Amino acid sequence: MLVKAPRGTRDIFKPDSYLWQSIESTIREVSETFGVSEIRTPIFEHSELFLRGVGETTDIVNKEMYTFEDKGNRSLTLRPEGTAGVVRAFIEHKLYSDIQPTKLYYINNTFRYERPQAGRMREFTQYGVEVFGSGTPICDAEVISLAYEVLQKLGLKNIELKINSLGNSESRKVYNESLKKHLNENIDTLCTSCQKRYDKNPLRVLDCKEDSCKEVIDKAPSILDFLTDECKNHFSSVQNILNNIDIPFTIDPKIVRGLDYYTRTVFEFVSKDIGAQGTVCGGGRYDNLVENFGGPKVGAVGFAMGIERLILAIISEKGEYKYTPKKDIFIGYIGEKGLLRSQKLVFDLRKKGILAEGDTLGRSVKSQLKYADKIGAIYSVILGDEEVETNTASIKDMQEGTVMKMSLDEISKNLFLK
Ligand code: HAM
Repeated sequence: MLVKAPRGTRDIFKPDSYLWQSIESTIREVSETFGVSEIRTPIFEHSELFLRGVGETTDIVNKEMYTFEDKGNRSLTLRPEGTAGVVRAFIEHKLYSDIQPTKLYYINNTFRYERPQAGRMREFTQYGVEVFGSGTPICDAEVISLAYEVLQKLGLKNIELKINSLGNSESRKVYNESLKKHLNENIDTLCTSCQKRYDKNPLRVLDCKEDSCKEVIDKAPSILDFLTDECKNHFSSVQNILNNIDIPFTIDPKIVRGLDYYTRTVFEFVSKDIGAQGTVCGGGRYDNLVENFGGPKVGAVGFAMGIERLILAIISEKGEYKYTPKKDIFIGYIGEKGLLRSQKLVFDLRKKGILAEGDTLGRSVKSQLKYADKIGAIYSVILGDEEVETNTASIKDMQEGTVMKMSLDEISKNLFLK
């Protein structure tokens, strides 16, 4: 029986692979402009890292992790998100003793055992940014502006930024009490998962998409009414800076995010075009995580974007992606001498960085020329005995239909002045 790719995973090849490459290069360029450099961390980490980092009451830890024992009986987990690994690396390599802030980005394949649907995969790719060493609202706005700029450079217009503040532990303690009271009054209406969440992590209920819960959530008290003065000031500074740099946003007090580490500012960029899984980017501040992992007390803020969702949004805004890179030249042949000379010329041109293609299927001349046309060759030439002996050939300009005579040495020297 044919073995297929596991559910929730996919293969990427052309033309999509070109779209991926162009998105990745936009991401890298914009990140570098913001002074953010790349970090690469392992695909798997000790499971404990995620239990402690992401939070034991989250869906990710409870239901979605790919956890396995290795041959040395260690419990390891394929990363379900990027932040915990980067925090670990930040502490392990004492990056905090370097010039601060530390600004890092990653493009990671990431794994969650979720029910696959459009925009929800079991293996997916996150572009993430983590900035350590600053607790200021300026840093929140900088990180949000980086995400915004990447989306702009990708040409995405139909995307809305929503922000909220989850306050600090003091704000949250008072809010949790009020929220619990409200949830308790409606406990029978909540779905079974939320009835469990109610006790351990009531904030999580606000994230529930079940219809029965939605009604209760709509009437829930707003966290913004419970912020301490400091948290309120922090949140309004973030808004002032965003306004000042012309980044449009709306405030959505229902945004709580699916991970436990957030403090103060949280945000999401949501596409209006790609259905239920419309959040293309999510992030926020997490001021306690580094310290909780045994590092110094430093502020931190970051986000991650799902590249598969970005692609859905790009296709929905701009249409299906079509791209085949043009080849500079096709060099075909007739006969044994022509074959050897054409292969040498192809190799010489490739060494010079010219996209040359030859025939490797033993096609007829007619089929070779058809192939040259199909691959979008700009020039084509066929080498036979005569061309090899006279060291000269007729080069056809495939677009113009014109032909020019040229010595074979000249092709590599003058035809492509790169
Ligand atoms: P998250 O909201 O869990 O946050 O994921 C971030 C983004 O990853 C989502 O907005 C979505 O675009 C994408 N994503 C998540 N799950 C899937 C999936 N199953 N299939 C496809 N795409 C998905 C985090 O992971 C945090 N670590 C973000 C962060 C970084 N916060 C601070 N720093």
